[in-house]
Amino acid sequence: KILILDFGGQTCQLIGRRIRDFGVFSEILPGDIELTKEIVTPEVKGIILSGSPYSVYEEGAPSPDPVVFDLGLPLLGICYGFQRMTYHFGGEVRPLETKEYGRSKIHFLEESDLMKGVPDNFLSWMSHGDSLDKMAAGFSMIGESENKLPAVGVHKEKQFYGIQFHPEVSHCDFGNQILENFCCRICGAAKDWTLDLFMEQISERVREQVGNEKVLLLISGGVDSTVAGGLLLKILDPNQVYLMYIDTGMMRKGESEEVAINLKKLGATHLHLIDARDRFLEPLKGVDDPEKKRKIIGDRFIHVQEEEIEKHISGEYFLAQGTLYTDLIESGKGVGNKANVIKSHHNVGSPLVEAKRQAGRIVEPLDMLYKDEVRKLGVKLGISKDIVFRHPFPGPGLGIRIIGDVSEEKCRILRDADYIYISELKKRDLYDKIWQAFSVLLPVRSVGVTGDAREYGFVLALRAVVSHDGMTADVYDFPTKDLLEISSKITNEVPEIGRVVYDISSKPPATIEWE
Ligand code: XMP
Repeated sequence: KILILDFGGQTCQLIGRRIRDFGVFSEILPGDIELTKEIVTPEVKGIILSGSPYSVYEEGAPSPDPVVFDLGLPLLGICYGFQRMTYHFGGEVRPLETKEYGRSKIHFLEESDLMKGVPDNFLSWMSHGDSLDKMAAGFSMIGESENKLPAVGVHKEKQFYGIQFHPEVSHCDFGNQILENFCCRICGAAKDWTLDLFMEQISERVREQVGNEKVLLLISGGVDSTVAGGLLLKILDPNQVYLMYIDTGMMRKGESEEVAINLKKLGATHLHLIDARDRFLEPLKGVDDPEKKRKIIGDRFIHVQEEEIEKHISGEYFLAQGTLYTDLIESGKGVGNKANVIKSHHNVGSPLVEAKRQAGRIVEPLDMLYKDEVRKLGVKLGISKDIVFRHPFPGPGLGIRIIGDVSEEKCRILRDADYIYISELKKRDLYDKIWQAFSVLLPVRSVGVTGDAREYGFVLALRAVVSHDGMTADVYDFPTKDLLEISSKITNEVPEIGRVVYDISSKPPATIEWE
């Protein structure tokens, strides 16, 4: 495997992603982690030093455990990583008057293993404000940018490579080739990262951790927890696995049933479907402040969970969660320190999760996987594609998609309308082109006519966005024909809705959800 030392570069995660894509197992670690024998195991074939928002000469700039330079392993420094490496060996780095940013042609001064198969003058992607001024002893410059700045360096004897550009970014031509050259040609890492291998590794780890004790997993209906459930059922004795799903009354149409069918199909024996609709909807009556609504729903989750766990599971148990690799990285924790990982609404601030974590009784079987790998695993486990490729759904569910106060009746109206919207997107092959689509029920009534009668119906807003990770989002550019047809289907089939509008706000400044 290949280790990636993360110095806080924005695209560090992408490096890992690209390497996994060509089948080599990679692991991202905090840049300054102590490189002990437990970390640098014989499986580690090479190390990548990532970019960083810091300058090497800045106070507090992160640096790797100096042992990294004595391990005898090939290194690849990217951007800051390159500067850090040369700086360590006595090279010089200086701020540039004009930042080198965007696409830049790279001219090779010498051939190298790193650039095998990459044409001279290929277009790279630059993003740096510092540059190497003087190479360290033993290093030679073998490529330069169009601005004649050092772009590729090598210490041949030690097999240390450095590049100033970012091969992990999709705008960098031949980026994958360069990373693959480093990992496979130079480090000799095997392309053996497959989901089968993952399942073997993880089942060993989980079995060792839990023995034959009980494991409880709270299922939200989303991809991650459902796949985690399927996986636990596969690698443990299904009799050990307790699955609990709480129906808040604010789920999508058919969602609860679909989850149950899937988990039963996967062999669940202890599947507890909790009908908690009244316990959620009662305290929400008449509450229209979004923050209060969220707080009530969050508190109810904690309360209902505790109540139900007590009823259905006796004695000691482990708590499983569908935490993904990206959840760990995004929360800034990196591997080895998962203390404050917050996965989902179920677990935010939950005393149960905190207590279990303190006791070392949390199981996170997906914590090495990226989202798309989780999806592949879901398909492999036999979970329906409707669940595996479903758009994200917020923890508080329809509760924050009904603007103003929530009632059972409004949930039903929104559920029916949203079901039509989503089914139509699927029929029209638009669902997979959209990152997240949903409907919002507004607290506004508008006048309309049906036949001869004047009606006073609800207004429904449709939302559809494309996004990479939900942090920013663009409005989906809908074909007008589809919008018109979907709107008329909704108003025809859901009599309470008199008018449909389309939300054309990007994030920022708007958020994806309305509340
Ligand atoms: P916003 O509205 O913040 O949403 O632009 C970004 C993404 O997060 C989801 N979201 C939530 N997910 N609990 C969740 O589990 C929540 O309280 C929550 N609020 C928003 C939202 O659906 C979108 O995908």
